[in-house]
Order: sequence, then structure tokens, then C-alpha cells
Amino acid sequence: MTERLISILIGYMFGLFQTSYIIGKMHKTDIREHGSGNAGTTNALRTFGKKAGAMTLLGDCLKCVLAIVVVRLIFAGRETEMMPLLCIYAAAGCILGHNFPITLGFRGGKGIAASVGFLIAFDWRMFVICAVVFFALFFTTHYVSLCSLTSYLSALIAMIVFGEAGGYGMDRIHTTEMYLVMTALTVLAFWRHRANIVRLSKGTESKVFLSKSKTK
Ligand code: G3P
Repeated sequence: MTERLISILIGYMFGLFQTSYIIGKMHKTDIREHGSGNAGTTNALRTFGKKAGAMTLLGDCLKCVLAIVVVRLIFAGRETEMMPLLCIYAAAGCILGHNFPITLGFRGGKGIAASVGFLIAFDWRMFVICAVVFFALFFTTHYVSLCSLTSYLSALIAMIVFGEAGGYGMDRIHTTEMYLVMTALTVLAFWRHRANIVRLSKGTESKVFLSKSKTK
């Protein structure tokens, strides 16, 4: 239990680094007062342009990668049979820190870029599958929220498929626990996107067009 809590705490500390908020402050404003009000990649792109969007994606992605690297280093050599589980707890902590930052009144983002970092650090196959799903949907619909949520579901399914194929080397209890944490993260992502889901159902969700560097 201690290893899990330490992993969550380390992840949470990294999650507090809010890239889009910092970029907003460099523009002398609070990103949460603009666009969708979300402190994340899409809203940084929407509010400050492509460069800010790319920086936010990179920063928020990297913080989750770093959280997982630190957890791997701290627990290297012991408890290795549950390392994938500790990695997902580190990611969960990072996503919680990003979504509910104590330093910003618990008003953060939706955890998608941080989740991308988790996929990169955890299993490149899951990252590739989600990237294909995301961009295939993005270039046909231009709804980032829809792409994010569909990719999240793809990640959950891919994790279970690879896990059941024996890819993570943990016993049944730890493997099941990992699926449950991933399921909880998926539910959290849907909950954080609840306003987007309502807008999608009404056809009022804003679209993102990279070529025009704007939304409509
Ligand atoms: O990364 C968050 C994205 O899925 C939606 O962002 O700003 O359109 O609510 P936003």
C-alpha cells in the first residue's frame, strides 16, 4: 500500500505543473477565463495559438513521463512484479494533480495530455493505437473532445487485450487492480468532459482546424 501512495503522491506533485496556466500567465491572463475554461492543450491552442498548444501538449505529456520515470527509479530492484501497477498509480496521481491542482484552487484541466505521457512511458503499443484512433477521428470530425474520449476507451481495451496476452508480467490480482485503475481514469476523463459531451450531443461543440490555426 505504501508504494501505491508514494507513487500517487509523486505523480500528483508532477501534475501540479500546469503548462497552459504558465503560458497564460506569460500572456498576463488566466487561461481558465478563456475559451472552454480548461487548462489544457486544446484551449491553449484555441486561446494562444499553435505554439502554445504544442508547448502545452509537450509540457503536460512530459510531466507524466517524468513522474513514471521517478517512480521506476525509486522502486527499481524491489516490487518489480508490481511495477506496471505503480506506473499507473503515478499516472493517476499526475492526472489528479493536473485536473485538481491544490495550487490553483482545484481548477485544472481534463488530463488528456498527461494521459498521452502515461501511454508513452507505459506501453508504446497502446500509444500507437490511441494515436491512430485519435488522428483518424480528428481528421474526419475535428472534435478534439470526441477524439480524446474515444482514444481513452481504446487505451482501456488495448491494456486489457495486452494484459490478458500476458504482456505485463504481474499476477492476476495486480493485473486486475491495474485494469480497475485504468477504468477509473477512463470514467474520470468522461466526467471531466461532461460539458463537451452535452455540446457534442447538441452539435454545438467547437471544432479545431490545425491548418487554419483556429477553432469554430
Ligand atoms: O484535452 C481536452 C480536450 O479533450 C477538450 O478540451 O478545451 O475543448 O474542452 P476543450
